[in-house]
Amino acid sequence: MLPDPSPSITVDGLTLRPLRAEDEEAVRAAQAEVAPDGFDVLLGLSGRSFHAIREALAAWARGDVPPGWVPSSFLVAVDGAGDVVGRISVRWELNEALRHVDGHAGYAVRPAFRRRGHAAQMLRGALALLAERGVESALVTCGESNAGSAATIRSCGGVLRDRVDVGLDGAPLPEPTLRFDVPTAPYALRG
Ligand SMILES: CC(C)(COP(=O)(O)OP(=O)(O)OC[C@H]1O[C@@H](n2cnc3c(N)ncnc32)[C@H](O)[C@@H]1OP(=O)(O)O)[C@@H](O)C(=O)NCCC(=O)NCCS
Repeated sequence: MLPDPSPSITVDGLTLRPLRAEDEEAVRAAQAEVAPDGFDVLLGLSGRSFHAIREALAAWARGDVPPGWVPSSFLVAVDGAGDVVGRISVRWELNEALRHVDGHAGYAVRPAFRRRGHAAQMLRGALALLAERGVESALVTCGESNAGSAATIRSCGGVLRDRVDVGLDGAPLPEPTLRFDVPTAPYALRG
């Protein structure tokens, strides 16, 4: 059976699930709140209608992607009070660019919900889903100065592999990237 293109999972009371129509206000607010961190919550889609955003994300999850892209799932993180606290985008396989810098997962937590362990919960959920799909070691990366993200990755078992300071084209990156290898087995839901 093919894996669910838009899975859901709950980690310590935080649920990761696909975007719903009723998430528009929260997710557009998240886009604006996290933009000052240089992070694009809506993956370049924010100029579209919410319906079109959801259609595009559903297509990417199904593997209906532009040439050179890989299947990915965009999951919002919803806490026990029903608030959308952040999102994680999980890439189910790596292409050359993802293998070089971006890795298997990208995440952000809304400023009002930070320092509560949500990024680590989101990453643990993504690692469980990757384990389910046969990815034994996830590549998770962050900018060298991103202490919060580096701590998140380490708290999930990430081991620093190396530091990349040029892109695939050989040009210097705006900021060096730290690449971590994160074993997924500790998070596998079933053996
Ligand atoms: C990085 C980010 C996702 C962290 O989210 P968060 O929910 O606050 O993180 P958590 O509460 O799960 O913290 C996880 C670990 O990071 C540490 N941490 C979190 N923010 C930190 C910060 N700003 N400085 C230092 N450590 C930090 C926590 O203490 C915790 O470590 P511990 O488990 O050893 O105690 C959030 O700050 C964010 O969304 N930033 C903007 C987008 C971004 O940078 N995304 C990642 C791109 S690689």
